[in-house]
Amino acid sequence: MGKLYDNYVKSYALTESNAEEFFDIVKDIYSTPEFQSMGDYIQHADITRLQHIMSVAYLSYLKAKEKNKNYVSAARGAMLHDLFYYDWHTAGDGSHRLHGYRHPGFALKNARKLFSLSPLEENIIIRHMWPLTPTPPKYSESFIVSMSDKYCAFQEIIIKKFPSYRLKFKNSVKKAGASNG
Ligand SMILES: [Fe+2]
Ligand SMILES: [Fe+2]
Repeated sequence: MGKLYDNYVKSYALTESNAEEFFDIVKDIYSTPEFQSMGDYIQHADITRLQHIMSVAYLSYLKAKEKNKNYVSAARGAMLHDLFYYDWHTAGDGSHRLHGYRHPGFALKNARKLFSLSPLEENIIIRHMWPLTPTPPKYSESFIVSMSDKYCAFQEIIIKKFPSYRLKFKNSVKKAGASNG
């Protein structure tokens, strides 16, 4: 189904040996308890926010590298783009109704508490919901992360909605994991 899809599948089977450079870039973020807590939240279907973020970060890293852009900041900004500590599905009381607009700001605030960020990394986080939030990304890396985020969300929704697609996808992931040895 194409290179983008193959890389998306691979993002579910990443290890320090099949994605050595990627892990070198993001390891310090990945190993924080704050980042690991992203595994406690569901993004779409049975896919956790931790997995969602890893997919977005890996695809952004590959795309930025392919385009000779700053792939280190693309990967690191993407790792922090959805760093907020609540389940956005629990919108029953209305408190999370504006989640789509507000969470980039929450993520930026949380990320700043943990790491010192470059202006590029800050822009990646705060502009990733464009065009829902109207100010466009300032850098091509921010645009890459925003597009990777949309691609991953789209895949997650299809995986959730269509059982036959889900089955096929899970088999692809299994195969990708097996070929890692
Ligand atoms: Fe987001
Ligand atoms: Fe996201």
